[in-house]
This record gives sequence, C-alpha cells and structure tokens, in this order.
Amino acid sequence: MTSGANTGRRKRTAILVSGRGSNMTALLDAAVDPAYPAEIALVVANVAEAPALEKARAAGIEALAVSHRGQGGRQGFEERLDAELRARDIELVCLAGFMRILTPWFVERWHDRLLNIHPALLPAFKGLDTHARALAEGCRLHGATVHYVRAEMDAGPIIAQGAVAVMDGDTPQTLGARVLAVEHAIYPKALALVASDAVEIEGMRVRLKTGDGPAPAALIVPVT
Ligand code: GAR
Repeated sequence: MTSGANTGRRKRTAILVSGRGSNMTALLDAAVDPAYPAEIALVVANVAEAPALEKARAAGIEALAVSHRGQGGRQGFEERLDAELRARDIELVCLAGFMRILTPWFVERWHDRLLNIHPALLPAFKGLDTHARALAEGCRLHGATVHYVRAEMDAGPIIAQGAVAVMDGDTPQTLGARVLAVEHAIYPKALALVASDAVEIEGMRVRLKTGDGPAPAALIVPVT
C-alpha cells in the first residue's frame, strides 16, 4: 500500500481494545509488511477476557489487560494505562472497539497521537447503535470514520471515511457487516497516513502535506 512520506523509522503503536478485535487484526495484518510505517508494539484491553488479547498474542504481539475496575476510579485506570504505554515508548495509540470514554486528561496527554474508529459517517450518529439509527433515519449512505480523538466523544479531525449504500432489505446486522468491512479497509490506511507524517491538522480538517506523499484521493477511501 502507499504509506506516504515515510521518515524511515516505524512508529511504535499501541492498540486499545475491549472485545473481539477485528479492527485490531486489520491493523496487525497491515503492519506485517516491513514497509508499513507503524509497528504494533502493544495491545491493551480493559477486560482480561477480551478475545482480542489472545488473537494478539497468537500474532506474537505483547498483549495485556489493564482493568478499569482497579483502584483510583477512572483517573487511576488512565494513569495505569498511560504508564504501560510510556514504559514501552509508544508513540501512537489506536482505539479499536475500545468501549471506555477517556477523560480530557488522557486525551490531552496523547493529543494528535490518539486515533479512533467509529462505525458511522461522523459527525452523524455519534454514540452507540449507529447502524439501527442510520436505518431508522432512512439514510441511503452509511459508513465508518477514522478520526483524531478529542475530549468530546466521537469528535475530532477526520482522517478517513468510507461509505456503503444502504439496501432496502438491510437490518442493523447486514448493514453493520458491510460497514465493518469498510472499517478494516480504512483504519490501516488512516494509520499509515499518520504514522508516515503525511498529514497535518488545521482546525477540524486533516490535509495531506505537499511533497511526495500519497495522492489527495487517499483521504477518501472508495470501497466497492
Ligand atoms: C467496531 O465496529 C468499531 O467501529 C466499534 O466497535 C466495533 C469493534 O469491533 N467502535 C465503537 O463503536 C466505538 N464507539 P472489533 O472489536 O471487531 O474491531
């Protein structure tokens, strides 16, 4: 794939998960390529039973659980998480089905180095049950978004989006399955853009830097 204006060194990246980890797997698969500009150095789950942890270990990636139920409440959880990331010189963090809301403290510490994937075309359908809500609203297009994380939930400069057509017979499950395929396509591309320093942020807009980076169309990922 096109990785953009790669500075040469791969960025040490952590993935935070809560569940099955299919987006995590898409990122791990992309990072198997030595030319990919991010290396996945760590996977962390907030629940020890998350299937993603076993999948990561099977792929040879260090994977650990940091429980959100430990001492110190939300702040204590985020301090333990932050300490694990810093102990491994992590540079970028990808949320991939990580179902905890992060406080402004953590978001600020990882400002512009924290990415999230959301199963809707933001700024529409922030929050949960996005596929059912898109159907209920009669949307003809639906999709997924990769964005930089800001303190407000499901908001932040958009790096990549992919859309699918809504079919007349769709249920939240059938629509969600097609959106998930889009997620797996756009997250590795978005991480590559960030890890290769190919993009810059101006307000809410993410722009490709000029130079020998990928073509502008790389910011919009067409998925058939
Ligand atoms: C994905 O659809 C992701 O976009 C969503 O959870 C799913 C996780 O699946 N994330 C959110 O809803 C975050 N607000 P996965 O564990 O198979 O990647």
